[in-house]
Amino acid sequence: MEWVGSPVCDGGGMSKSMTHKTSGFVLAAWLCTLLGWVVMTAAQEDDRGTIQPAQARQALTLIHARCAVCHTTDLIVQQRLPADRWTVTVEKMMHWGADLSKDEAAVVLQFVTARYHSGAPDHLPSIEEELALTAPAWGPSTASDGPLVGVSERGAEIFARNCQACHGEGAMGGAGPKLARNKILKNEGVFWETVLHGRGPMPAWGAVLSHQEISDIHAWLATR
Ligand code: HEC
Ligand code: HEC
Repeated sequence: MEWVGSPVCDGGGMSKSMTHKTSGFVLAAWLCTLLGWVVMTAAQEDDRGTIQPAQARQALTLIHARCAVCHTTDLIVQQRLPADRWTVTVEKMMHWGADLSKDEAAVVLQFVTARYHSGAPDHLPSIEEELALTAPAWGPSTASDGPLVGVSERGAEIFARNCQACHGEGAMGGAGPKLARNKILKNEGVFWETVLHGRGPMPAWGAVLSHQEISDIHAWLATR
C-alpha cells in the first residue's frame, strides 16, 4: 500500500511525536494518522482506484485463463486474505502448476491483494462478471491497423503457453474446440474478434497478448 507512505508522513512522524517535540510535529503526526485512516477506509470500500483498469483487465484475463484450468475462479473470489497470505497462495499455485511468468504473477498478485483482502465486502462479482464489465479500450478495428506477418515457429510456443490447456495439444481440441483445420482460420475477422474479445467461456486475449503474438499463433494454427 504505497499510498500510505507520503513524504510528509514518512520519517517516523508518529514516533517523533511520542518523544518531546514541538506541537507542530504532534499536529502533523496527528494529521498524517487521520489522513492515513481516511485513505485506508476509502481504499477498503473501493479498491479499484488502487489498480489501473488495464492492469485489472490483464489480471482478470490471466486468472480466467491460467487459474481456472484447475478450479473455479469462485474459489479465488471467495477468499479474504492479507497480502502475505496471498503471496504464499500465488506462489503455491505456481509451484503446483499455474503457468505464470514472474511479471504476470506480479499483476495477478497485486490484483487479488487489493481486491480480496480481509476488509473487502462479503460479496464481490465473479471474475467472469468483472471481465464482462471491463471492456477493452480498443475495438476490433485496431486488429486491421496494418498487415502483421505471423511467425509460426514463435506461434507454436505462444499457443502452448496460453491456449493449449483448453484447445489441446496440437490444437486438436479439449475443453475448447479443435482449432487445427478449423474454418475460422480462413475467416480472419472472426478469428481476431474471438481472440481479442473472447466469447462465452473463451477468455479475451487483447490485454495479454500483443497483436504480433496473436498473428504468430494464427500463422502456426494455419500450418496444423
Ligand atoms: C495446477 C492446478 C492449479 C492451478 C493452475 C491453480 N490452482 Fe489454486 N488450487 C489448486 C488446488 C489443488 C487447490 C486446493 C484444493 C481445492 O480446494 O480445490 C487450490 C486452491 C486454491 C485456493 C484456496 C486456498 C488454498 O490455499 O487452498 C486459492 C485462493 C487458489 N487456489 C488460487 C489460485 C490462483 C490465484 C491461481 C492462478 C494464479 C490458481 N489457484 C491456479 C490447484 C491449482
Ligand atoms: C480457459 C479455456 C480457453 C483458453 C485458455 C483459450 N480458449 Fe479459445 N475457446 C475456448 C472455448 C470454451 C471456446 C468456445 C467458445 C464458445 O463456446 O463460443 C473457444 C473458442 C475459440 C475460438 C473460436 C473457435 C470456433 O470454432 O469458433 C478461437 C479461434 C480460439 N478459441 C482461440 C484461442 C486462442 C488463440 C487461445 C490462446 C491465445 C485460446 N483460444 C485460449 C476456451 C479457451
